[in-house]
Amino acid sequence: MDLLDVDDLTTDELTAVLDRAADIKAAPETYDDALDGQTLGMIFEKPSTRTRVSFETGMTKLGGHAVFLGPDDIHLGHGEPVKDTARALSRYVDFVMARVFDHADAEELAEYADVPVINALTDDAHPCQTLADLLTVREEFGGFEDVSVAWVGDGNNVCQSFVLGAAMTGIDLTVATPEGYEVTDDVLERAAEFDNAPATTHDPESAVEDADVVYTDVFVSMGQEDRREAKLADFDGFQVTTDLLGDRTLMHCLPAHRGEEVTDEVIESENAVVWDQAENRMHAQNGLLTWLADRK
Ligand code: CP
Ligand code: NVA
Repeated sequence: MDLLDVDDLTTDELTAVLDRAADIKAAPETYDDALDGQTLGMIFEKPSTRTRVSFETGMTKLGGHAVFLGPDDIHLGHGEPVKDTARALSRYVDFVMARVFDHADAEELAEYADVPVINALTDDAHPCQTLADLLTVREEFGGFEDVSVAWVGDGNNVCQSFVLGAAMTGIDLTVATPEGYEVTDDVLERAAEFDNAPATTHDPESAVEDADVVYTDVFVSMGQEDRREAKLADFDGFQVTTDLLGDRTLMHCLPAHRGEEVTDEVIESENAVVWDQAENRMHAQNGLLTWLADRK
């Protein structure tokens, strides 16, 4: 199976992946040869700190190996069609991880690859981030029921996968975006299938009112640099400040653009669990990789 978004998993499968991740985090030595001899191909069309290092280090810790395939390293999309890259890589590696711009490219990789394809960020989704976020919420609050999260910012990739993860786990989510930056109807409809679609608003203050957690992401995503000025103007009033955060927990997928979606004070505050989220990327992905390997 592939993981193009969180709802490719059933709710039971999601719980199994998170439980496995927690197990690995608690007793990593138990899994040090879990992926012995296995290789992860890592396709990157965009930059990355956390995703690259957490996947590569994770594979090493599990006894496997990872191959970094940056935009100048392979022919993907320019020297050969995506489907050819998918079929060639499948003859070498045991898993493919892809960070690409166009979600359709991730779908094409998944369609043509014979090995599991894991979405490591497209313009539409970031399921690996959501797995880490859910692990972090569970650690912080002991579960998902009765946890209330306010998303404040852009309703794109990270937000959309979190909407699905929240819907699947029972997190009470309110999404506050400026007009024109809402979560797509497709994602809201998929969330509604779990009877837990988020509330939506254009007002950050009302979104955070009853929240335990405020979650935000950059206003200018990778590939949107030419829209920077316009987006910063559109997101005026959506910055997470100490006033907006109050005594709530701060989540952020990182990288953080201080002075834009968050103030420096907020990201450096005791309320921020952003480094736990970053660490949990590795544990969550290790949970996913070993769970996928067990299914082969
Ligand atoms: N959160 C996240 O995916 O970070 P990177 O872009 O550094 O991989
Ligand atoms: N929304 C951000 C997430 C980075 C992890 C981006 O797409 O650049």
